[in-house]
Amino acid sequence: MQLREGSYFIQNQKVTDLAERFGTPLYVYDGDKIIQQIQSIHQAFAGIDLKIKYACKALTSLAVLKLMRKYGVDLDVVSPQELQIGLLAGYAGNQMNFTPSGVSFDEIEFAVEQGAFVNLDNLDVLEKFGQKYGSSKPCMIRVKPNVAAGGNAKIMTAHEGSKFGIDIRQKAEILALVEKYDLKIVGLHQHTGSDVKEASAFIEAASRVFEFAYDFPDLQCIDLGGGFKVAYKEGDYTTDMEKFGAELSGFFREFCEKYGRNLQLWFEPGKYLVSECGYLLVSANVVKEAPGRTFVGVNSGLNHLIRPMMYDAYHHIVNASNPDDSEQDVYDVVGYICETDNFALGRTLNKVKANDILAILNAGAYGFAMSSQYNSRLRPAEVLVLNGEAHVIRQRETLEDVLRNQVEIDVY
Ligand code: LLP
Repeated sequence: MQLREGSYFIQNQKVTDLAERFGTPLYVYDGDKIIQQIQSIHQAFAGIDLKIKYACKALTSLAVLKLMRKYGVDLDVVSPQELQIGLLAGYAGNQMNFTPSGVSFDEIEFAVEQGAFVNLDNLDVLEKFGQKYGSSKPCMIRVKPNVAAGGNAKIMTAHEGSKFGIDIRQKAEILALVEKYDLKIVGLHQHTGSDVKEASAFIEAASRVFEFAYDFPDLQCIDLGGGFKVAYKEGDYTTDMEKFGAELSGFFREFCEKYGRNLQLWFEPGKYLVSECGYLLVSANVVKEAPGRTFVGVNSGLNHLIRPMMYDAYHHIVNASNPDDSEQDVYDVVGYICETDNFALGRTLNKVKANDILAILNAGAYGFAMSSQYNSRLRPAEVLVLNGEAHVIRQRETLEDVLRNQVEIDVY
């Protein structure tokens, strides 16, 4: 979003015009930003055989997946439904890897039937995979490297005690199953967590996976997951992609040399690709003065963007209707849900009046994707701005959507 000639713009679209044209609350995504983020990863890893597998749980809208596909990005999916949405977006099964956590074997079979690569995350499922497919289908193993990193406890995945993956200390058990069933392990996967601040944590996790890899002769790829940190506020620590790329590329080349073959390097970013492209536009319903504080009550809440309440996440907020920063005030920006529902407490904003449009930033990743119908509220519409044109990619919900699947019975 840019401030130009006294107005905020997403590409060439005035933010307040988008709000007026499509209504609020509204999710808006800047397609150019997604493309830029894709390109920045490829630049950082120039010379490496790199494949990006977008963790589409972050934002699963078909149009966004199609955009990813157009720019050569494959998918990481975590449910049969995400896999099916990937197929609808035009992906072939083998362009997707399925990285579920503790699912029933039916789901694994479904993914295999679709031709997806499957990341197996426990010994039991490895055994079942062996019994059913032996060496006839390739598979990947999700390992847990025991590296603790991530923005907060809820989004860390590679530490000791995390439910994800097979602990690297269980290598002997894995190898026994590989031998027993002649399994073709074509990839090793690890995912550190989300909002990982330290590049050193990625490097540490990678080094443990590389060390683990030498006993697996059929590898085609090493999948180092996602988790790159983007800025949620000014001055925030972020993953310096260029520096990280240079460092890890060197390290990966050394590994490939030692391994004896060039492998493909995979990443599964979610936030890095779509967090900053997204804005949740909301309207100020009320500005409520109370002793010692001023509330701005907006026409949205944790039902549309749960990150502030769920993770205490900071989301920057801009008063798109008032670019004049000569008069500012401190506000509690709160939602309309009937429980504590804060977007921001004690936030300095350009003076807000009722009906102003506020833009909540970094709303692309885990925004719409984690939204709900709590309080029987309707989920917002989504708009993708592509080549300067605003496209509705999802209609605002209606009451029929809220009632769908409910079955009326005679209550006697
Ligand atoms: N790969 C795997 C196996 C994952 O589980 C995840 C995210 C990713 C990749 C992508 O991570 P990212 O690049 O987006 O950090 N709802 C939370 C984040 C949960 C992440 C879950 N797994 C949030 O809003 O912060």
